[in-house]
Amino acid sequence: MPEPMELAYEERGSGPVLLFVHGFPFDRTMWIAQLAGLAKIRSAVAVDLRGHGLSDVMTGGDFSMDLFADDVAKTLDAIGAEKADIAGLSMGGYVLFSFWRRHPERVRSLIFIDTKAEADSDEAKAGREKTAETAASQGMQPIYETLASKVVGSSPSIEVQDKLKEMMLGTAPEVAAADALAMRDRADSTADLPSITVPVLWLHGEEDALMPVDGARASAAKIPGASFVSIPKGGHVSPMENPEAVNSAIANFLKTE
Ligand code: MLT
Repeated sequence: MPEPMELAYEERGSGPVLLFVHGFPFDRTMWIAQLAGLAKIRSAVAVDLRGHGLSDVMTGGDFSMDLFADDVAKTLDAIGAEKADIAGLSMGGYVLFSFWRRHPERVRSLIFIDTKAEADSDEAKAGREKTAETAASQGMQPIYETLASKVVGSSPSIEVQDKLKEMMLGTAPEVAAADALAMRDRADSTADLPSITVPVLWLHGEEDALMPVDGARASAAKIPGASFVSIPKGGHVSPMENPEAVNSAIANFLKTE
């Protein structure tokens, strides 16, 4: 197990902490519009998971969703937050499930975005190994070329496409490889859904081609009292594609939680 590392984070606003965890292979900058739009009602914090963005690059060892979740808990310690509303997109959502299992006392509410509770199928696990090998042997360009069109809906802006390119090509290949293997090995979280006792909001892009919206709606329905909001003009990165709809759904949820 690698040593715990300090995570880089960006904070806007003041008040109770609302912390955002990015997906794969992204970084904290995917949440720019959420930090700008939600800083009026929360201390909005976006973290870089280890190895990503400005967080330390790992020098060896494996990643896991549990390791990421513990890193997030350490970040809450660093900013002096006992509890937080925590939002995670896709891989960030997998981190949220681990965080809920390991640190439930630190959760005020959970916001799952464009993610899923199920573990990988055998075929998906084989795909993770291929992704890890490709990243290690050829770098991020082929990963970017495969993923770029799949993560967006039908009408992504040039700005969103450029930002995705910047994040994907800016991720270190060894970090992307370690992410892929950590996602391969993540736990199945479906059995946890009925036992989540904090307020939950699940946001999902209507045009998410990687994780179809109907499956997400079915998972959210298993969480007691969870709210589900589908995001129009949103693919797998709906907070970037339709920040107005995502920010307004989060603001409404936080008003009532
Ligand atoms: C992500 O956006 O984090 C990835 O699509 C997650 C995954 O590949 O399962």
